[in-house]
Amino acid sequence: MNIIKHSLAVLGMIAAPAFAAGQVTISIDAGKPGPVINKNVYGQFAEHLGTGIYEGMYVGLKSNIPNTRGWRNDVVGALKELHVPLVRWPGGCFADTYHWRDGVGPQDKRPGNVHANGAIEEINAVGTHEFFDLIDMLGADAYVNGNVGTGSVQEMSDWVEYMTSDGGSPLARLRAQNGHEKPFKVAYFGIGNELWGCGGNMKPDYYANLYSNYENFLRAPEKSRPKMIASGGNGFDTAWTDVLSKELKGRTVGISVHQYTIPGSSWEVKGKDLGFKEDEWMSTLANTLKMDQLVKNHVAVLDKHDPEKKIGLMVDEWGTWYDEAGARSALFQQNSLRDALVAALSFHIFHEHAERVPMTTIAQMVNVLQAMILTDKEKMVLTPTYYTFQMYVPFQDARSLPLAIKDNTSYTLGATTIPGVSASAARAKDGKVYLALVNTDPSKAVDVAVNVAGTMVKGAAGKVLTSATMDAHNTFQNPQVIKPAAFSARAAGGKLAIKVPAKAVMVVALEE
Ligand code: AHR
Repeated sequence: MNIIKHSLAVLGMIAAPAFAAGQVTISIDAGKPGPVINKNVYGQFAEHLGTGIYEGMYVGLKSNIPNTRGWRNDVVGALKELHVPLVRWPGGCFADTYHWRDGVGPQDKRPGNVHANGAIEEINAVGTHEFFDLIDMLGADAYVNGNVGTGSVQEMSDWVEYMTSDGGSPLARLRAQNGHEKPFKVAYFGIGNELWGCGGNMKPDYYANLYSNYENFLRAPEKSRPKMIASGGNGFDTAWTDVLSKELKGRTVGISVHQYTIPGSSWEVKGKDLGFKEDEWMSTLANTLKMDQLVKNHVAVLDKHDPEKKIGLMVDEWGTWYDEAGARSALFQQNSLRDALVAALSFHIFHEHAERVPMTTIAQMVNVLQAMILTDKEKMVLTPTYYTFQMYVPFQDARSLPLAIKDNTSYTLGATTIPGVSASAARAKDGKVYLALVNTDPSKAVDVAVNVAGTMVKGAAGKVLTSATMDAHNTFQNPQVIKPAAFSARAAGGKLAIKVPAKAVMVVALEE
């Protein structure tokens, strides 16, 4: 009986069951491509904080953990799979206490110093040369963040010259003496971090003046001058975007903004990484979706002062931040299926604003906050967030496609309701149309009908990430608890129906 039903469905003689009433319909218009989704939207942030750099990524040449010039082979190998386009370094709040000269020259001669951020003793084994070694291994671009808080115009100017000067200058000679004859390529350079807080508790007007002063003296060859980023406001505070986009026209390619997702209603009680109830599943996803309004608010201000769209909104810190109770190291947290949905929903929002959001860097890469990878000495696990980044690789530099969702489901808990399905589509560099889907409902699967205007879609194939529990996660003992599974669907009667499981992220390529 089942065989007969299946054959009839394939022949288009009976409606596929998923086309029943209550189905969500997604219509993609491949004939009207939108802006390109800059690959740098998938950038990452690696800060000298907790075990984010040391142990997590860099173990030194003498370590028993297999490494290449000190960088862990397992971690670098896994990150390569993500095609990481851009890495922001060395902070964060760390950047505003970092003095670059401490991190160049022979490693055994470098000083140690204590930094406010994470109360660690910084050994300075990873400095400029080591960072660019990592960047080279990953094939990524560099986003270096300078020190405004405790540095000086001269120090920052010297660092940029040290990295970018193509010869002749004493700092270029010092770089060569330290082992790197050719200049390093700095794609972006950030002038300070969180100046409203850890970077110096400043006001935007004061920083705008400081920025102009710093930027004016950052010497680099014209052809390889880094794109300068101004450090902007906190979350929904658009005052910084307002002042900076007015005052820094022509002197910055982007204004940064930081927005973290916490499940709780205050920073004092953020919520747990694991073992949470459905109310925190809901609040986490609902809070993540606020990113859309946040971006719209900042974009409205940018549109006022920069209608030519020369200044981007760089969301260079985003992701989940949970209570740290019992963490192995500063800001270490587990990462569950919930984090995978946070990442996917955030991507959809960034895609939607591709024109104004050319770069984001998730906080952070390894062992800190919403990480791709967790390590415990020689052990390593890939997180659900890692797998989400991997599934979305085709969206890097893809052309976004307009998409309409009809009859969307909604997911309600108590007084909160959010859309049941979130979707994003793009034509990737390989020529295929990719569709990403999130089902926010933790209990109900959803049937989605997909059509692409002017095309007969024959099928879809890709990956789905889900699990039985909301906080499914990988541990050092059980590293394979949650990982993507293959998914495919065939069109019936010229129509494609996809069943998206409860609490799932799915990315498929459509077969046209
Ligand atoms: O990502 C952790 C910290 O959060 C960064 O150092 C800082 O910029 C932000 O407040």
